[in-house]
Amino acid sequence: MAEKIIINDVGPRDGLQNQAVILEPQQRVALIHTLIAAGVKHIEVGSFVSPAAVPAMSGTADVIAALPKGDFHFSALIPNLKGYELAKASGIDTVSLVIAASNTMNEKNIRMSNSQVMSFAKDVLGRSHPDELTTLACIATAWECPFEGLIPENTVIDLCAELLAAGAPEVVLADTIGAASPGQVRSLMTKLVSEFGAHRLSCHFHDTRAMGVANVYAAVECGIRKFDSSIGGLGGCPFAPGASGNVATEDVVLMLNQMGFDTGIDLGKLITAADLVAEQTRTNTSANSAKWIKRQIEKGLL
Ligand code: COA
Ligand code: ZN
Repeated sequence: MAEKIIINDVGPRDGLQNQAVILEPQQRVALIHTLIAAGVKHIEVGSFVSPAAVPAMSGTADVIAALPKGDFHFSALIPNLKGYELAKASGIDTVSLVIAASNTMNEKNIRMSNSQVMSFAKDVLGRSHPDELTTLACIATAWECPFEGLIPENTVIDLCAELLAAGAPEVVLADTIGAASPGQVRSLMTKLVSEFGAHRLSCHFHDTRAMGVANVYAAVECGIRKFDSSIGGLGGCPFAPGASGNVATEDVVLMLNQMGFDTGIDLGKLITAADLVAEQTRTNTSANSAKWIKRQIEKGLL
């Protein structure tokens, strides 16, 4: 039996949050349906953030209200306690909180210092258990911060330890600006995996320097079996200068499927989702592998 790798498509959140064209909730729901049709079961469907800060994410509660029921893992990002309360009221099962590895990034992103964001994280982790919510903790700028530069590995290891000890079931290591190389990924992930175990970790890469897929590969080699990626390679944090799109789901799935892993995702159907989001956002960005995948579809091979 092929070994499973979980793909969490963050397109409806990270992919859309910084687009010039703002999608209505029903368009976001249509996109989520095409992802589901391709076999994607883990999807970050939006965020409960200030609509003034990120207008593209307003209406996330309406998106959640329209989601299909079933064997899916939908999550929403929260930046503060108000976001947590709104997420809880929406009925979503999983929230992801973001804690940057550097003080400046925390200030720019969510207007909290490192110590404020850690006490917010602990507060949410404490509340989420009685509230029957799962809280994933994401460490942003885990390799490099656009303001403070390279992040020492020990800073991330200590943060990770603190979040896991506070009850986070999983920590997501995010290369928010797409600055890490596979060597840096291997170095940090090897240490984190040996300290905490691969099953409690996942990775989130951006493709700014075209090393997104190579970074996924490096993390796979370290034992990581869960990845964030974004349909069509859309994405980027509005508050992290230089951030570009996430590593494309199509590229990651093509590589993993061809390596013999079971992602449960149908590449041919994934292209339908990629075409839809390109049309909706009126962008012509696409995954590096999109042309090849489309040729296989034309030849009837996919
Ligand atoms: N959801 C919706 N509205 C929120 C909110 C949330 N989670 N948190 C605060 N607000 C509202 C407040 O009610 C207030 O509204 P008002 O002006 O109508 O009274 C307004 O936003 C400002 O609130 P304040 O507490 O002063 O926040 P701020 O201006 O310092 O902004 C954040 C802080 C965190 C709310 C804002 O920076 C944010 O939403 N950032 C999102 C970051 C993000 O999405 N990054 C990308 C993913 S990592
Ligand atoms: Zn991201």
